[in-house]
Amino acid sequence: MSHYRMPILEETGYAVLDSHGRVMDQAEWMTLEYVDWKSSGDTRFAPIASAQGQIECNGFWHAKPPKADKDGVWIPSQVDRAPTLVERAREASANIGRCRVIELQPNSYADALYNSHLDDNNRLNPEGEGWVVRCFMQLSDNPDSYMILREDIDDPSTETRIALPAGAQLIVDSERMWHSVWHQGVDPRYCLITSYESGPELEKWLWELNPVNRVESAPIDDEYAAASEVEAQTRRSGRTEFYGYDPTDVRSEA
Ligand SMILES: [Fe+2]
Repeated sequence: MSHYRMPILEETGYAVLDSHGRVMDQAEWMTLEYVDWKSSGDTRFAPIASAQGQIECNGFWHAKPPKADKDGVWIPSQVDRAPTLVERAREASANIGRCRVIELQPNSYADALYNSHLDDNNRLNPEGEGWVVRCFMQLSDNPDSYMILREDIDDPSTETRIALPAGAQLIVDSERMWHSVWHQGVDPRYCLITSYESGPELEKWLWELNPVNRVESAPIDDEYAAASEVEAQTRRSGRTEFYGYDPTDVRSEA
């Protein structure tokens, strides 16, 4: 027996949903408590649901007792600060694991490729239950920033670049798809990231938001892309040589 996986993600590993229509109050994500947590690039995280309701970002398998990335426990002090974010995450009545806001400082396309990684979403997830995927709900308005998805990190032809204006939302099998964000701008980018269990509840919610599993990539200058590719792959190779393995192949705990 294997995990239940949603057909909508089968072909491309992602689906772009209708934009969230309502204006969000940025005070909600600005007043949350953030912890330093090294993920892809210069980042901090504000956990809203964690393994045991504490303000920490560890993978749920570190909890005592260890658990899969499901049945996240809401953190009361964070919920008080960001009730609308919690409401949004819970719009889908699917099982939620990790739920947190990421803060990402501006970076380059090469930085994004260098930091691209796979997530560890399904450790300890029992066979026969739903495959855990991630939903990215863009909070800050960054129309010139892009989610960079690749089926194969070494093959630029497998890339999709998805613009991130406020309200953009997408669901990604982030254990399959290499991902990172190229954030152009001056201020940090904020995004709500939630782990959901695949199943009828999640699918019902997705279908209400007109999921599109193949979108046109945002344009990029060819020369800049080629130079960034070389820079990123050189840095990636150097890192692999340094560690003796590619650390981004070891699925990210974040
Ligand atoms: Fe990730």
